[in-house]
Amino acid sequence: MTTALVTGASAGIGRAFAERLAREGSDLVLVARNAARLEELARSLRERHAVRVEVLVADLADRDATGEVCARLEDDVRPVDLLVNNAGFGLRRSFLDNDLAQEEAALDVMVRAVLLTCHAAGRAMRARGHGAILNVSSVASFIANGTYSAEKAFVTVFSEGLASELSGTGVTVTALCPGFTRTEFHERARMSVSALPGPLWLDADDVVQQALADVAAGKVVSVPGAQWKVLTTAVRLLPRPLVRGAPMRAVDRFRRR
Ligand SMILES: NC(=O)c1ccc[n+]([C@@H]2O[C@H](COP(=O)([O-])OP(=O)(O)OC[C@H]3O[C@@H](n4cnc5c(N)ncnc54)[C@H](OP(=O)(O)O)[C@@H]3O)[C@@H](O)[C@H]2O)c1
Repeated sequence: MTTALVTGASAGIGRAFAERLAREGSDLVLVARNAARLEELARSLRERHAVRVEVLVADLADRDATGEVCARLEDDVRPVDLLVNNAGFGLRRSFLDNDLAQEEAALDVMVRAVLLTCHAAGRAMRARGHGAILNVSSVASFIANGTYSAEKAFVTVFSEGLASELSGTGVTVTALCPGFTRTEFHERARMSVSALPGPLWLDADDVVQQALADVAAGKVVSVPGAQWKVLTTAVRLLPRPLVRGAPMRAVDRFRRR
């Protein structure tokens, strides 16, 4: 039996992780802000898959609430074997036009919470000699599209560094870098994505399946979907001034509505 803690489990990719992990027989700790959605999902998963599901309501922009999630990860009586750091959101406006409070919340949820939970889980797993951490980053981490890219670049590079630090301890770390995935993400950020070509879209269940296969294989960076593997390889080969140009402007179009 394993136990997985999934942040941002009330919707989208996080919910798909919870569904799949429960189907595979994993006990779960579900973390997000929306208590009603988490309780409903927990009830449904317990009924359908006979697994134990805890609900931990937490706003990861809040330092104390994040501390409670860390305390759960440090609990040796109920060890967490897999941490899925998935909670996140898009920013509608560019940095200088955005509200600073929203920018700080994004930093807190997508950087500080990842840092703190990885510290807690990494130490606990290292002491036990096994475990896995999966940090949901983005293909945006390979380009230079505002603070969202910068935060996701932190997640990717931080995960790579932590994977090296934990090498040989029995604990793996994977950065998951999906492209556009059908979830609530774009509607919540009020992005205009209707013009995005169909073949670029990923399905959350497919993303999760690929991610968990890559975690099992010990991959450090996971890019689901052949189309995104090709695109990200191309972007990583481009001279950086080009990365600051065309791909960034293309992505930026989706932000404005
Ligand atoms: N969809 C894409 O195209 C795409 C592409 C690349 C990467 N990603 C990344 O994938 C991850 C999941 O996004 P998604 O697409 O599944 O979006 P989503 O459908 O909007 O789900 C986001 C999840 O994050 C939770 N969340 C947001 N703010 C939170 C906070 N302050 N505290 C705790 N939980 C919070 C939400 O729950 P509550 O509202 O209940 O708190 C929700 O469960 C994010 O890190 C995102 O950056 C998404």
